Amino acid sequence: MKSLKTKLGKIELATPIIMTSGTFGYGIEKINFIDYEKIGAFTTKTITYNPLRGNPQPRIYETEYGMINRIGLQNPGVFYFVKNVLPKIRKKFKNIFVSIAGRNEKEFIEIIKIIKKEKISAIELNLSCPNIEKKQRMFSQDSETTYKIISIIKNETDIPLIAKLSPNVTDIKEIAISAEKAGADIISLINTVKGLSIDLKRMKIIDGGLSGPCIKPVGLKCVYDVYKVVKIPIIGIGGIIEGKDALEYILVGASAIGIGSGLFSNANIINEVYNFLENYLKKNNLMLENIIGYLNEKDWLI
Ligand SMILES: Cc1cc2nc3c(=O)[nH]c(=O)nc-3n(C[C@H](O)[C@H](O)[C@H](O)COP(=O)(O)O)c2cc1C
Repeated sequence: MKSLKTKLGKIELATPIIMTSGTFGYGIEKINFIDYEKIGAFTTKTITYNPLRGNPQPRIYETEYGMINRIGLQNPGVFYFVKNVLPKIRKKFKNIFVSIAGRNEKEFIEIIKIIKKEKISAIELNLSCPNIEKKQRMFSQDSETTYKIISIIKNETDIPLIAKLSPNVTDIKEIAISAEKAGADIISLINTVKGLSIDLKRMKIIDGGLSGPCIKPVGLKCVYDVYKVVKIPIIGIGGIIEGKDALEYILVGASAIGIGSGLFSNANIINEVYNFLENYLKKNNLMLENIIGYLNEKDWLI
């Protein structure tokens, strides 16, 4: 469907639907009910330098209108990933975004040195991971750290960089501007929102990241604010469970949208979002590119 085509800088996507990091595994499991043609790009679960076991159970907890996860970046490490997983992902997806995280700058660079040899569409920097050199503060919770890590990585590779930012900041615009200045090619918004649940049955606290429909207004606000101040494209993520949610993200400025925990509660979500957008554009005789940011304005154009 031509009208659904979109661009993230130089990356051309047949549809704006991106499977967001951590919610679709490595995309290699055979899932019969998924129409892979409707997916514009696939983002891997975040890969670290060394393999990580992740946190002990419980790791996922259902909450009102969403869920809290504390998976703890469980993954097989970059060496295993490149050798054994990436070749399988290639068979399924044209556009692959590899999500990575390091505990400090050095670790980010070590991963980049390995990943940059691979043919992939983009590297997504999970900047919501804790920086062990800054008392576990997330990289993207500070505009200077954001600038520094992205500019160092930019020097290492020509592969487009996606800066995935956390909404847990005072001013998301400031962080996004630093990411753009440092050389990020795309911004993805948002990662999970910090949250806490109490499991009264087991008398346990689940302290983690909130996702699902309850965070959509937070995601929309972040995309809305950031669109005004940056020139690079934005991937809108957070709480998309049906077609109209995706449309809302596009209208406030997202060039593509990420589907995450919505897939956990609705196995047909990819078809629904695709069909909704296709019908909407057809009915109004529009192309997706015409409606990006339709309900928003760039600050410098005002
Ligand atoms: C189970 C689970 C695992 C996730 N793992 C990652 C991850 O490895 N890296 C990352 O950048 N984001 C991760 N996320 C965050 C999602 O990519 C997404 O940004 C967030 O869930 C908000 O979107 P949603 O409300 O559509 O789920 C994870 C989310 C969930 C629910």
